[in-house]
This record gives sequence, structure tokens and C-alpha cells, in this order.
Amino acid sequence: MSHESSQPVQAVEPALPGHRRAPPPGGSALHEVKSVGAKRIGDVILDVNNISLSFGGVKALSDISFNVKEHEIRAIIGPNGAGKSSMLNCINGVYTPQQGSITFRGQTFKHMNSHQVAVMGVARTFQNLALFKGMSVLDNIMSGRNLKIKSNLLLQALRIGPAQKEEFEHREAVEKIIDFLEIQAYRKTPVGQLPYGLQKRVDLGRALAMEPQVLLLDEPMAGMNVEEKQDMCRFVLDVNDEFGTTVVLIEHDMGVVMDISDRVVVLDYGKKIGDGSPDDVRNNPDVIKAYLGTSH
Ligand SMILES: Nc1ncnc2c1ncn2[C@@H]1O[C@H](COP(=O)(O)OP(=O)(O)OP(=O)(O)O)[C@@H](O)[C@H]1O
Ligand SMILES: [Mg+2]
Repeated sequence: MSHESSQPVQAVEPALPGHRRAPPPGGSALHEVKSVGAKRIGDVILDVNNISLSFGGVKALSDISFNVKEHEIRAIIGPNGAGKSSMLNCINGVYTPQQGSITFRGQTFKHMNSHQVAVMGVARTFQNLALFKGMSVLDNIMSGRNLKIKSNLLLQALRIGPAQKEEFEHREAVEKIIDFLEIQAYRKTPVGQLPYGLQKRVDLGRALAMEPQVLLLDEPMAGMNVEEKQDMCRFVLDVNDEFGTTVVLIEHDMGVVMDISDRVVVLDYGKKIGDGSPDDVRNNPDVIKAYLGTSH
């Protein structure tokens, strides 16, 4: 496990024009499209209770508890190998924790089942893109609607009766997402031919096609240049504002985390070492030590 590629936690200069907490005088281009401070955070929608997860001798998560409130942007941060992706994998049922439970909208689960989680309204994007590279942008985003397709395969294939109407409705929903993400020009382009930043945007589109209540984003801005990050931040904020979607965001860029998250949970070597507002976390000595690599 290496902490080498992690950013020091002090590197929190607002890197983005969309700085939500302290808007610049007059506002930026981003602020013009946002209603700063208008959102209301609700009750707890997702409660992670004492989760422990091991892979053989590797303890990926040790007794982790935190909650996520409706409509908030909740960041999960931590050095490489801290257990962030494993945490999302427990929440959406890819991994089964040895201990603990997850309560989603009042229902408690020892093991989240991937399909059931999706049906309950949790969608996710992946650290390593999981798109169909040879398929068009439109078809990739359409694949996010699979859960919502009700008519049977034969009717779909023949495109008759209710299946035809249903397909039209799904296409309309997908077109709206394409417009929202400003990727109209690439609708028919195979995803593999797009620059990486746009592929990440398509991955977000595929998750949005599920019309989720909770969106789990695993490093949606990794590998992006500054401009692409600004765009992605704006889309995440807009999804959160316009659709009221709760967002759980894993992100290494501290500028982004401090800019857009409401609360932050910090993991290090599978343990929770911080939890609170961006300012709380930024000033937490354990967090600073972990990011400087001197805590062990
Ligand atoms: N499927 C797996 N099998 C074995 N070990 C795993 C598996 N998934 C994760 N781990 C281990 O669990 C620990 C946490 O990994 P995880 O991918 O959750 O970290 P992370 O915080 O997402 O790191 P990064 O910032 O590099 O993405 C690491 O030691 C990793 O090697
Ligand atoms: Mg990860």
C-alpha cells in the first residue's frame, strides 16, 4: 500500500470556478447557472453501520460507520488503498462485508444485493470505466435503462404494441440526459473513440439513466484536465441541485472535495479517521498526518 500518489490535504485552494461555499464577488459563469445555498439537506437515507471487510489477510475496512443524508454531496476521501472503492462495493452489493450492516431508506441489510440496490434507486459509476466501447453513446446510456424496461424481449424485438411506446419513452429519457450532459454531438459515436473526459461523462449518463435517488461516484474526475474537471463538477452539482439526487463521491482532488461536498468521511488503511464538514476535515490533525504519510 503506498501513499505516494496522494495529494497533501492542505492543497485546498479553490481550483474551480464553481466554488459553492465562498462564491467570488459577482459570481463565476458556473454560479450563474446555480442556486447557491438553496438546497435543503434531509434525513439520513443511507446508514453504514460497523462495516468490516477483509480479503484474506488484508483488512480493507475496519468497523466503518457513517451516514449519508438526503440531497447532500457526501465525499469519501483517503490515500490510495484506504478502502474507498471497497466501501462503495459494499454499499452496492458487489462485496459482502464480514461484519456490519447497511440501512437504506429504513431497511437494514447485512448484504446488499446488486440488483436489489439498483431497483431501490442506487446507481453508480466506476473508477475504471465499465462502458461498451464499441457501442454508441446513445446505446451506452440506454443500457442504464435496462432495469426500467418492462415489456418482454419478443415484443421489444418486434417493436409492436406497448413495447414501441415504451421504447419511445426510454429514448426520450436518454435524449434528455444527452442534452443535459451536453454530448449531443457524440450521440452516435462509439464510446471508445471519445476522449477520456467525455467517456467519464457518458458513464455518468448511464448511471443517470437509472433515475437514481442515490448516485455513487468513484473518482469521476480522475485523469481529467482542469477544464474537464470543471465540467464534471458542474454536472455533479447540477444533478444534485436540479434532480435532488443524493451523491456519494470518492475523489482525490482536494480542491474539488472542499468545493462541492457538504460533508466528508476520511478513510486510511481501512479505518475511519475523520468525518465532518470540509473545514473540520481539513483541520483534523489525523487527516493531515495520513495525507503526509507520517501517521504509521
Ligand atoms: N477484490 C479484492 N481482492 C483483494 N484485495 C482487494 C480487493 N479489492 C480491494 N482490495 C484491497 O483492499 C484495500 C482497499 O482497496 P480499495 O480499492 O478499496 O482502496 P481505494 O481507497 O479505493 O484506493 P484507490 O484510491 O487506489 O482507488 C487494498 O489493500 C486493496 O488491495
Ligand atoms: Mg478506489
